[in-house]
Order: sequence, then structure tokens, then C-alpha cells
Amino acid sequence: MSKKIVVITGSPRKKGNSFAMTDAFVKAAEAKGYEISRFDAAMMNVGGCHACETCFKTGKACSYDDDFNIIAPDILKADAVVFTMPVYWYSIPAQIKGVIDRIYSLVVGGKDISGKECALIACCEEKDITVFDGVRIPIERTAALNKWKMVGEVLITGVLNAGDINNTDGCKQAAALADKI
Ligand SMILES: Cc1cc2nc3c(=O)[nH]c(=O)nc-3n(C[C@H](O)[C@H](O)[C@H](O)COP(=O)(O)O)c2cc1C
Repeated sequence: MSKKIVVITGSPRKKGNSFAMTDAFVKAAEAKGYEISRFDAAMMNVGGCHACETCFKTGKACSYDDDFNIIAPDILKADAVVFTMPVYWYSIPAQIKGVIDRIYSLVVGGKDISGKECALIACCEEKDITVFDGVRIPIERTAALNKWKMVGEVLITGVLNAGDINNTDGCKQAAALADKI
């Protein structure tokens, strides 16, 4: 069955490690016939949530009309949401965190976003897997609250510079993630 997958990236490095894994995932998912819409949050203008609670009252997901309103319709339609990012200071990079925070508008706006699948692709410099806690736990809990099923996580440690991912099996794991959706 063809599925619609929305891929939201969080790195500003186009030739970076998480983008390489994202590309591998997208290629594998497209080969399965899945429909991909990809948004590179760090190259878009998405601010944080203003908690004004006027979601969908102006006809758009968010009354603060930045690029989140371009992403929102695809999140609503998607069967699966895949987040990809590096770890920044043991946490989620600001640019993609803005997108995640603004998913609040879909909830407050009364949209039924339950039943989606969710996956995470992430990388970091350090070699300790717990470095991912500040990324993994918020994504897992957000998915649980939204009634999304976590279907897979690719967490690659020990990559600092662009290209380091090629010394790991990160891209292979990212491609294999397509089979879990
Ligand atoms: C602002 C910033 C903060 C970072 N913080 C961490 C960190 O807390 N722990 C870590 O292991 N790596 C950290 N890194 C390293 C990145 O996670 C690592 O270089 C990663 O491979 C970058 O992925 P990318 O090439 O997809 O951008 C940080 C990098 C930057 C630019």
C-alpha cells in the first residue's frame, strides 16, 4: 500500500550526516512507492509557538503565518512523520523544534492526527548513546501523546564532520527504516 510520508529535517548542513541518512531513507521509501514530502526546517522560516490558541481560526493552522503553514497540511495528510536531525547541546536543534512545537496548532485546532506512524533519524559527535536522550525522549513522548506509533529509530553516534556518516552503517540503517513503515 502506498503511504504518504512527511520527512522533516533539522540540520542546516546540506552535505551533512543527517541529510545523508535522510537521502538514503527517502530513496528507499520512494523505491517502495511511498509518496514523500520533505521539508528542511533549517532552510525555512519557522518560529516557535506563541501559545495564542487561535489555531485554525484564521483559516490556516497558525495565525502567525510563517512557513509552518506550508508544512502543516502535509503533516495532516501524512500516514507517517519522520524527523531527522543532529543533536545540538543534548537536545533538538531550534529550527526543527519550532516545527514540533507548532504541531500544537493541529491539536488545539481539533484535527484528528492520531494513527500516524513516526520515526526518528539522528546523529551526534559523542560516542555515548545517552546523548540522544534529549532528542529521543521528547519525540517518543510527543508521538505517544499524539497516538502515533514509533516504528523505528536510527541513532548514530561518533559523527562530527560532514561525511563522517560514511564511516558508519547509518545510511544503510536509514534505508532499512523504510521497511518499517
Ligand atoms: C550547535 C551544535 C551543538 C552540538 N551539540 C552536540 C552535543 O550536544 N552532543 C554531540 O554529541 N554532538 C553535538 N554536536 C555535533 C553534531 O551533532 C554532529 O556534528 C552531527 O554529526 C551534525 O549532523 P549534521 O551533519 O547532520 O548537521 C553539535 C553541533 C553543533 C553545530
